[in-house]
Amino acid sequence: MHESIPVLDFGSQTAQLIVRRLREIGVYSELLPHDAPEAAVRALMPRGIVLSGGPASVYEPGAPQLPPWIIDSGLPVLGICYGMQLQAHALGGRVEGMQSREFGPAAITVVDPDTLFAGTPDQQPVWMSHGDHIAALPDGFRMLAHSPGAPFAAAGDERRRWYGIQFHPEVVHTRFGRDLLRNFAFRVCGCHGDWQAASFVADAIDRIRDQVGDGRVICALSGGVDSAVAALLIHRAIGDRLTCVFVDNGLLRQGEAEQVVATFREHFHVPLIAVNAAEEFLGALAGIADPEEKRKIIGEKFVRIFEREARHIEGAHFLAQGTLYPDVIESKAPDRQKGVTIKTHHNVGGLPADMQLTLVEPLRYLFKDEVRAAGLELGLPDEWVWRHPFPGPGLAVRVLGPVTWERLETLRAADAIFMAELHAAGLYRATQQAFAVLLPIRSVGVMGDGRTYADVVALRAVTTEDFMTADWARLPADLLARVSSRIVNEVPGVNRVVYDISSKPPSTIEWE
Ligand code: XMP
Repeated sequence: MHESIPVLDFGSQTAQLIVRRLREIGVYSELLPHDAPEAAVRALMPRGIVLSGGPASVYEPGAPQLPPWIIDSGLPVLGICYGMQLQAHALGGRVEGMQSREFGPAAITVVDPDTLFAGTPDQQPVWMSHGDHIAALPDGFRMLAHSPGAPFAAAGDERRRWYGIQFHPEVVHTRFGRDLLRNFAFRVCGCHGDWQAASFVADAIDRIRDQVGDGRVICALSGGVDSAVAALLIHRAIGDRLTCVFVDNGLLRQGEAEQVVATFREHFHVPLIAVNAAEEFLGALAGIADPEEKRKIIGEKFVRIFEREARHIEGAHFLAQGTLYPDVIESKAPDRQKGVTIKTHHNVGGLPADMQLTLVEPLRYLFKDEVRAAGLELGLPDEWVWRHPFPGPGLAVRVLGPVTWERLETLRAADAIFMAELHAAGLYRATQQAFAVLLPIRSVGVMGDGRTYADVVALRAVTTEDFMTADWARLPADLLARVSSRIVNEVPGVNRVVYDISSKPPSTIEWE
């Protein structure tokens, strides 16, 4: 068990980021609902607590309040934005609405450079986002920093070890936000920084052994990093009582299916059932052009094949899934705003509804970068750990229009060239996702002395932090020229290559 600084969630869009930042500085954290029972918070061995921001106003009827137990808990508390206003409100200060909201970059002047601001400059850029501010501090609190829009941009009561900041230290625009969180964690709370991926691996193995006992586990491998890390952890914990099932749906990239088998069966000696179901999937997809229809068919087929294979594994009571912490947070917070469905992202490790298996989710408290670190720790090859995400429906949503084996092969060849050149230029990790798309149109070209009328390949490469928004990657022109020339020369049936220069929004990352 690690020391921790839990974050109580009052509804801020960036609450999850506070948790990430704390873990990045070596302090374990989890996001808990603001009204989580004291026992649930205490179970995490807290050395301090962070109160997140939130959209409410402390005086509004029904606004979430500071849990009363916190006041006498003796724990250090850092209130961020709404969290700071709650501290002031609960301890007898005064919170007021402002004429206009303060939103965006601001500069604060630090008047007390000890504790929270230690090692940071007197003037610093921060990110504000608030409609209320503190007009009078509670007894015992001193102003530590101010800004033109916030007379108490930061305040603290050293005796209580309670601090509040009006701005958001978790976003990158607050230049010294990480230092502030570090000062709170190490100077105020006395943390030691005992959280890292290596320690996670040992803990996870213990937890899996506790949960599974002498039972057997089935794990669906997709070729992605999450299911691979989940499988390796479980294999370390229970050895050959794990069986992996890998369904090759024929929609994977070049060499991917072979790599799954070589890595897991031959290198890690994990019991693996590999099913070649390409024909079944392509049969079901024949003539289908609609993207959502493709997704539905692929999702259902996967579940059916997986069930069929799983039935051959005697005595399995557990099903492993590579669920990550952001999914857990989202699913626990039904009151968070959700948008309309643009694409139905089915999870190819998805649980068949009537399978009567208990879930094992060893990654459910990890963020993606932590999963990667754990993967490296477990010996997963670098290229696997850093591989770009790949959608569950695979190349079916990158061969636009009806999917055929021939068109898949064309796309695989073009995509492999693009990836090879990106790697050779040292730019693969400078983009978060890059791939080729086969368009459903043909264009006229000239090759040698003849006219061609052939396929068009689009290249897509994006930079993004969270895949919710993305920008097109400014890849060097000569790299694009090389990729284009190689694809047209080496991939039969393609005579034109285009580069996608759309951002998300308004486009999406995938074309379908
Ligand atoms: P879009 O195209 O919505 O993609 O901007 C955002 C991210 O999600 C991936 N994606 C999918 N992943 N099943 C998945 O598992 C899907 O149906 C699916 N569609 C898109 C996409 O590759 C990108 O990383």
